[in-house]
Amino acid sequence: MSRRPIIFVTRELPSLAQRRLESLASVEIRQHNSNTAITRPQLLAGIKDADGLICLLSEKIDSELLRHASPNLKVISTVSVGYDHSHGLKLGYTPDVLTDATADTTVLLALMASRKAKQGLESVHSGTWGAFSLSRGLGTQFTDKTLGIVGFGRIGVATAHRLMPFGFKRVLYSASRPHEERARPLNAQFAELDELLAQADLVCVCCPLNAKTQGLFSMDKFRIMKQSAILVNTARGAIINQEDLLKALDQGLLAHAALDVTVPEPIPKDHPLVNHERCTILPHIGSATEETRNAMGNLAIDNALAGVFGEPLKAQVEL
Ligand code: DGY
Repeated sequence: MSRRPIIFVTRELPSLAQRRLESLASVEIRQHNSNTAITRPQLLAGIKDADGLICLLSEKIDSELLRHASPNLKVISTVSVGYDHSHGLKLGYTPDVLTDATADTTVLLALMASRKAKQGLESVHSGTWGAFSLSRGLGTQFTDKTLGIVGFGRIGVATAHRLMPFGFKRVLYSASRPHEERARPLNAQFAELDELLAQADLVCVCCPLNAKTQGLFSMDKFRIMKQSAILVNTARGAIINQEDLLKALDQGLLAHAALDVTVPEPIPKDHPLVNHERCTILPHIGSATEETRNAMGNLAIDNALAGVFGEPLKAQVEL
């Protein structure tokens, strides 16, 4: 009798996906069944006999790992839409299912920044709320403002659709090329990044991290932005040069930065951006809903199963 393919899973999956994983009969599941990060030695040991790997974005899939891998390893299935995995194997990922949750988080951060929620929460927690004031803690609103979306893929478009009802007068988007069909329902205009930054009141970073976008937001870009602008990043921390962001906030080149992603993650609690009055940071919760995380887990399982049985993956990265 031929052996069942082995799938090694580096983390406990969200509950529904985990239950499904445990019920699979056609494969043997081996798992680092914990909510804490797998260590490198555990990962290298786990991959030794595996035909498929289900892993997280944060795990380093590199040539050292592949040297430790079984020659039967056929597929790597990451439970994320973003990936930073270099190898010659089939790579499954989880697009689409996290679009809504991530776009929701972008809106959350945009509103938190524009309405000074960080300061407000701090005043409640520190007991400095004080008497009702007509002039303290005033934010700004989006009515008649210009929205700028950097990266006009699934998440960028979903973000623009969610934000338009807040009253923006127009939407600009920058991308590697114009996307007329996606832009039409929003009446969005294609713009070069610098033009977008010069005009937008709210800039949402929704592009993937790659060689072109690494460090894209640095001093030269902050100098172009409106001093009243809000910058939201729910994409990847490394798209923003954080040292420059800190300087730019200190120099008043922009009004507020609201980040769901940082370098490193977690960002140390004494990092100057964490304590900056005009920087709001969430702990990479873009896709963190029950619905989305289970959908991501399920899609990662589908991709891994397809890969070990030599079938086309449901969602495969074109490398
Ligand atoms: C992804 O999937 O790339 C997200 O950042 C993780 O939620």
